[in-house]
Amino acid sequence: MKKILVTGAFGQIGSELVPALKEKFGQDNVIAVGNRNIPEGFKGLVEKLRMPDRDGLESLIKKHNIGTIYHLVSLLSATGEEKPGFTWDLNMQSLKDVLDLSVENKIKVFWPSSIAAFGPTTPRVETPQRTILEPTTMYGVTKVAGELLCQYYFNKFNLDVRSVRYPGIISYKTPPGGGTTDYAVAIFYEALKTGKYECFVKEDTVLPMMYMDDAVKGTIDLMEADPDKLTIRTSYNLAAISFTVTQLAEAINKKVKVEVTYKPDNRQAIADSWPKSIDDSTAREDWDWQHDYDLDRMVTVMLTELKKKFEGEN
Ligand code: SER
Repeated sequence: MKKILVTGAFGQIGSELVPALKEKFGQDNVIAVGNRNIPEGFKGLVEKLRMPDRDGLESLIKKHNIGTIYHLVSLLSATGEEKPGFTWDLNMQSLKDVLDLSVENKIKVFWPSSIAAFGPTTPRVETPQRTILEPTTMYGVTKVAGELLCQYYFNKFNLDVRSVRYPGIISYKTPPGGGTTDYAVAIFYEALKTGKYECFVKEDTVLPMMYMDDAVKGTIDLMEADPDKLTIRTSYNLAAISFTVTQLAEAINKKVKVEVTYKPDNRQAIADSWPKSIDDSTAREDWDWQHDYDLDRMVTVMLTELKKKFEGEN
């Protein structure tokens, strides 16, 4: 079998997608590519590459006989606003390199877009698949440009490139940071560590969210789907759960006491520019997408797994 290469393999999504791909396709068929954050003692095939690096990527593709790339490298929304120029260079150049090399080497590509592709002029409730895309963050700008680039490569070069617009992803393996939606992760860490959380968005803020296992399942299912059934080559809307911070805190409080205070910062404006809920019916129709985790199930698994993680650290 041709091998699978994952860039950004040690980021939030890569850290959980890589083990899932290994489980499904075999330990020796997945190459994890990272830069600064490769964990000590990582078991498995790993390569170090600082992206963008077209030549470096090309040699990895040849060396490992790559047939599929999951290209996850990206700066996120909040970090991206600190370094907008670098965010454009990294996010766009690395994507273009992946697309060009994938045309040359007949590689199938997954690339994530995000709810950050939307902006203040987008309808915010049940946001449609095809709608206004006028984001205010550089991260969002790279997502809109990237979606169009993917669709262009599909139309022009027949490249099999597939994408989803992830909502905020909630997970326990990597620490929160860099994203606007990360309050919904950080609150769990603080609930267990201190019982207090100072939230950087207001209590009535609502954003679309998803538990990591659903995100991983959706990603692999889309890549396994029959290409003839796919009607979207920009990026599929993908949704699971939406809740206010108050609702999240209430769900956590049923199990662990957490006192939440609010001190909105510049991330509030980003959150306010994104949808509250997403219409993902096209993904549900085209490739049978469905989520498994509702708010309570997500809260239960987050608290259980984080407790185990903290106990292991002590
Ligand atoms: N979770 C991301 C962020 O907040 C959205 O794609 O930046």
